[in-house]
Amino acid sequence: MDRHSVFARKPVADIIATEGGAFKSLSKVLGPFSITAMGVGAIIGAGIFVLTGTAAALYAGPALTISFVLAAIACGLVGLCYAELSTLLPVQGSTYTYTYATLGELAAWMIGWDLILEYSMGVAVVACGWSAYFNSLLVQMGIGLPPELLSATGDAIVKADGTPGTAIAHVPAAVIVLVLTGLLIAGTRESVKLNNVMVVVKLVVVLAFVLVGAAYVNTANWQPYIPPNTGEFGHFGMSGILRGASIVFFAYIGFDAVSNCAQEARQPQRDMPIGILGSLAISTVLYIAVASVLTGLVPYPKLNVADPVVEGASAIGMPWLSLLIEVGALVGLTTVILVLLYGQSRIFATIASDGLLPPVFARIHPRLGTPWISQLVIGVGVAIVAAMTPIDALSRLVGAGTLFAFVLVCIAVIYLRRAEPHVPRPFRTPYVPWLPLAGILACLGLLAGLGLYTWIRLGIWIAIGLVIYFVYGRFQSRLRTR
Ligand code: ALA
Repeated sequence: MDRHSVFARKPVADIIATEGGAFKSLSKVLGPFSITAMGVGAIIGAGIFVLTGTAAALYAGPALTISFVLAAIACGLVGLCYAELSTLLPVQGSTYTYTYATLGELAAWMIGWDLILEYSMGVAVVACGWSAYFNSLLVQMGIGLPPELLSATGDAIVKADGTPGTAIAHVPAAVIVLVLTGLLIAGTRESVKLNNVMVVVKLVVVLAFVLVGAAYVNTANWQPYIPPNTGEFGHFGMSGILRGASIVFFAYIGFDAVSNCAQEARQPQRDMPIGILGSLAISTVLYIAVASVLTGLVPYPKLNVADPVVEGASAIGMPWLSLLIEVGALVGLTTVILVLLYGQSRIFATIASDGLLPPVFARIHPRLGTPWISQLVIGVGVAIVAAMTPIDALSRLVGAGTLFAFVLVCIAVIYLRRAEPHVPRPFRTPYVPWLPLAGILACLGLLAGLGLYTWIRLGIWIAIGLVIYFVYGRFQSRLRTR
């Protein structure tokens, strides 16, 4: 392939050589258990702690459990494709990098651009959820923040004195992003240590909610299990289950981040599929359990709140459980923000080292050893978005961008089987091309459930990406300018 074309492919030998240089020092210390734990750390967050409430109250009712199953099936199909790609060439930034070697530069850039949507904007959504739980904790202490500081700029709110008003900005969401950005700049090792502890706390809290809550479920709340459609697409009935699945798809985002640690895995061919599919399986079971218990504890129309799991715990009437959940959710949401911010800076650095983003993003701090400029720029950018954008629109856009990237991943698996049939594949996705095709269909189905406005926003995002590529990346690409 002509290296001046937008389909120019980065030679596999180059990738291996680069990896050997920049990332050679990464030690192969991760086994299947820690990789799965990492996945769970990245996955369980705002999806279950925040979006479950709106999805049940407005779209699916108690049938939200079916929505979780549908979204899990789509992710499982894509996960099997990820498993093949991440073991094919276990390198940093695997999806982006391997697409570069196979589908070419433009496709790689578009995957990278979508990953920015998934990681950065995903952080903004999770930070808004964090803020809701933080305030809920403050309220328990009698020092709740004024509503003006708890919603996106310009949102209609009810002020503390009961009069209507507009919000200034979602301040705690911005602050947590900036604080964690500081931590990541200061050093990765410290952040990872803190992360491991927090993942355990998060799991304990989710399990406590399920186990204690199950005993208090009122099965009358599950009737009707599938509330009748209101006449509008996506509002209850079958289409409501689909829309619910599209919304809670956000809850599974993060399993793909596991593919980034392929280079640190002891036996990637065994550990990556276990990590990707294992963390997905664990999250699916927990999500179905939480959704069942939650809709059994609280009548679904009452779940349209920013902290639905606390609402569930309050229904049980055990103040210690509510407190535990508030703290656990805060800790859990913090881990997701950390992992996504970390992943984003590494993706930025990888893309920048290829010349598709300004080289300054690849610069590593001489003493701290972290890509501080990209981390800082991302942190400030995300903090501004988190302060000013409504969480609902943002989470849908993140879902749409991720689904789009997943479609490209499934296409890459099919394409590669034809284009490079002899490359060793330690893990083979079964039933190619049918299984990846089913993955593509499932992703398109979930995209369909997100609605027209989200597609338009995604179209704008993709258009901006194309403009950046044709104005900047195309001319600065190291592959084409060497
Ligand atoms: N899956 C992650 C969450 O739900 C992004 O917060």
